[in-house]
Amino acid sequence: MTTTTLCRTLLGGILALPLTLLGVFASSSTHADDAPLYDRLGGLPAISLAVSEFVDDFIEDPLIMANPAVAEQKTTEAAPYIKFQVTALVCELSGGPCQYTGKNMREAHDGLGVTAEEWDRMVEIFVATLDTLEVPETEQQELLDLLGPTRDDIVMAGG
Ligand code: HEM
Repeated sequence: MTTTTLCRTLLGGILALPLTLLGVFASSSTHADDAPLYDRLGGLPAISLAVSEFVDDFIEDPLIMANPAVAEQKTTEAAPYIKFQVTALVCELSGGPCQYTGKNMREAHDGLGVTAEEWDRMVEIFVATLDTLEVPETEQQELLDLLGPTRDDIVMAGG
């Protein structure tokens, strides 16, 4: 294989990957309504894609980054780690085979002084990500219902 062919093959693979993963969401309707949310979402490939896109937008958001304590955590450098932990958490909460081993939500957000406004913006960014990935309404609502109870530990936690 020539270098050019190899480059084209690699590039083709990289471009095809997100589309394949997006297809995972599109096929979620093939799962029975009573299947665990994890399966209806499309499992780890789909969940990790959604979390990755969400975190990328989250750490670029001016309102979120206007919180100096959040910006100071060097969230950009920490992004791969946060993506991993949030993926594991969503996987576990949605009935998947993962076990979340990170900090509890109060510890993780202690001292950040996250406000109600920042929380609402985070939800907006999350919903926009799910819309872009064409996650159906029912599954979106179930995800929001899973994250909702963490609010009291995150908003103004120790702040
Ligand atoms: C406006 C809302 C939020 C803000 C500003 C925020 C900000 C942050 C920041 C700055 C960190 C890094 C802390 C550090 O490095 O010590 C972090 C970690 C983390 N956050 Fe959030 N977060 C928010 C909401 C959420 C939500 C809704 C979840 C999931 C339910 C979540 C899950 C996590 C996890 C799993 C970690 C890593 C915990 C660990 O280090 O083990 N966050 N967050």
